[in-house]
Amino acid sequence: MTVPRYKWQPTTLEIAAAAGIDPTEVIRFDHNTTPWPTDWAVEQAAASAASLNEYPGASYLGIRQAAAARHNLEPEQIVPGAGADELILLAARAFLAPGSSAATIAPTYPLYRIACAQVGAKLIEVPAAPPDFTVPMDAIVDAARESNVVWLCVPNNPTSVDMTPAQVETIIAATDGIVIVDAAYAEFVGTEWSESVDRFSNLLVLRTLSKAFALAGARVGYATGHPSLIDQIDGLRPPGSIANLSVELAQTALSRPDMADEIVAALAVARAPLAADLAKLGFRVLPSEVNFLLCEVGPEAEEIATALRMRGLVVRTFPVASGLNNYLRFTVRSEEQNRRLTTTLEEVLL
Ligand SMILES: Cc1ncc(COP(=O)(O)O)c(C=O)c1O
Repeated sequence: MTVPRYKWQPTTLEIAAAAGIDPTEVIRFDHNTTPWPTDWAVEQAAASAASLNEYPGASYLGIRQAAAARHNLEPEQIVPGAGADELILLAARAFLAPGSSAATIAPTYPLYRIACAQVGAKLIEVPAAPPDFTVPMDAIVDAARESNVVWLCVPNNPTSVDMTPAQVETIIAATDGIVIVDAAYAEFVGTEWSESVDRFSNLLVLRTLSKAFALAGARVGYATGHPSLIDQIDGLRPPGSIANLSVELAQTALSRPDMADEIVAALAVARAPLAADLAKLGFRVLPSEVNFLLCEVGPEAEEIATALRMRGLVVRTFPVASGLNNYLRFTVRSEEQNRRLTTTLEEVLL
């Protein structure tokens, strides 16, 4: 069986080498990460480096307790992972098998497709149509009826389309399978999906510290769900995929939601002028409350991205098969970095 591979984005070192510039001049507008260094995390990581000779405690009880406290849940309703990505792959192994089927709304986060293929499951990709990619409710409900797993990215990467609790609950009610809400960007829209797992035994919610908590390099996320779903993922989880340093960072971050609130607020301030400047360049900017902007730029999308990359600015392109090959996705970064993006785009588009 040939399993599709995740296509890794080129690294900053590779991009710098190709562009003939110093790696410090490269700015990543393609990863939906946060532009500001987290000073508290740097200090805390240094302090916890003393534990590097030992393994982390395999149950990660501290993260479970901190996440449980954040969402008014019990530690048995939480399983941690090395980022939401690890949990996506584990959930596919836990709930899908050769011959079983899953559904999602496309375009969406590509790892769901890879996770399904890795376990031999079929994935029905229900299309959300341009120009606004709104949720195709009837079609996803129909697909959900036939599915063992429904992957919902809420709000969706890359379209930034959000779903209401009523829409998600309609899908949950329609299926005997498991609905997995990937809430990687939930902090940006303020919807608290994690707590809904108390009401639905077939709902799993994925969270990450990579986005609103600015800890992408620490690789920590967690899932919330009914204890029986959590236990199935826990049984497949490697014992120590979250490093000691990351455990401590996660525990601090989870007890300080105000730190995420500050980042979300600052990025909202940076997003508005970036969206306006991209629109002035003639791009169609899709509405967004998250830390990225999807823009329809036209058939030169790939060429524009290449020209930017040769100037050290990396943006997200999409393959033809995604239907988004005329689009680029830009991460909202600091106002200064965003200005560098738009002034460079002006040069490139001349
Ligand atoms: C929708 C979605 N899910 C999951 C992830 C990965 O999160 P993590 O860094 O926690 O693995 C991303 C990262 O871009 C994402 O956009």
